[in-house]
Amino acid sequence: MALYRPVTVLTGASSGIGRALAHVFAEHGHELALVARREPELTALADEIAAANRKRPLVLSIDLARSDAPARISHELIARGLEAAVVINNAGFGLVGAAATLDRAEQLAMIDLNVRTLTDMSLRWIDSLTRHRGGILNVASVAGFMSGPNMAVYYATKSYVLSFSEALYHELKRRGVRVTVLAPGPVPTEFQARAGLGRNLPLILACSAEQVARAGYKGLMGGKRLVVPGLANKFVTFIPRVLPRGLMLRLVAANQSQRAKTRPEGWPRRRPEGTS
Ligand SMILES: NC(=O)c1ccc[n+]([C@@H]2O[C@H](COP(=O)([O-])OP(=O)(O)OC[C@H]3O[C@@H](n4cnc5c(N)ncnc54)[C@H](OP(=O)(O)O)[C@@H]3O)[C@@H](O)[C@H]2O)c1
Repeated sequence: MALYRPVTVLTGASSGIGRALAHVFAEHGHELALVARREPELTALADEIAAANRKRPLVLSIDLARSDAPARISHELIARGLEAAVVINNAGFGLVGAAATLDRAEQLAMIDLNVRTLTDMSLRWIDSLTRHRGGILNVASVAGFMSGPNMAVYYATKSYVLSFSEALYHELKRRGVRVTVLAPGPVPTEFQARAGLGRNLPLILACSAEQVARAGYKGLMGGKRLVVPGLANKFVTFIPRVLPRGLMLRLVAANQSQRAKTRPEGWPRRRPEGTS
């Protein structure tokens, strides 16, 4: 039987939390396969990691919203004698605005990336994760603990990530495969500009990408089911357990419209005229 070298597959490594996760995992000796669309950013990151005397990561420029993306990753790994020991599903994006007025195709692409690909990549390599006693780190959000008017599809995708990952934690425990769901609050990254959110992050909740990445690494290695970085964010995840759902909806809606006030130009995105 061919011997494959274990690798940590990390999605969304070209910026933000993913970039920080790449540094933290490399620092702890993981050989990495970095996946995102922007090749120059991935190559620059791979150069930085190699310059710090770590194993040079494999760079895979792939659009993860495509349904054939996980199969392409598998193919690339096998071709290089690698197999997944750890999978980090971090790539994701959000869109601010009323679901009925945002572009429908973009919202469906969000589900493809945040939900479909994450699910495929969580299930695809379970045999090799089991062989290496590895794990899965899925990036959700505090948004996953509630419904999110004005960002409805994004919040729903993160609720899925939370629910799915916690269930998988339970199912895979007996196989010795760790599953951790990382649920950050606001983190200053490219996420806000992509989503159409202002840069006015609530300071009491904000954590740096590095803090989030370190918390995620520690949680996965410690076999934790759920990691919410920052005390204030832990409190936020507790609020929906005690407030009536109707009141929660109104609070989140008010907060989202406040955060959307300083949007970049061109927002809100609307459906092109004449489409339904
Ligand atoms: N920032 C926050 O406030 C915050 C809070 C809670 C949770 N999160 C979650 O944290 C994760 C990382 O977000 P971030 O804050 O680091 O945002 P970011 O800086 O915008 O990074 C997003 C990453 O996802 C990749 N990506 C997006 N679409 C892709 C596609 N179709 N195919 C392949 N890669 C794709 C991007 O790479 P390319 O553009 O090069 O493809 C980029 O590397 C996301 O799941 C997000 O929902 C973020």
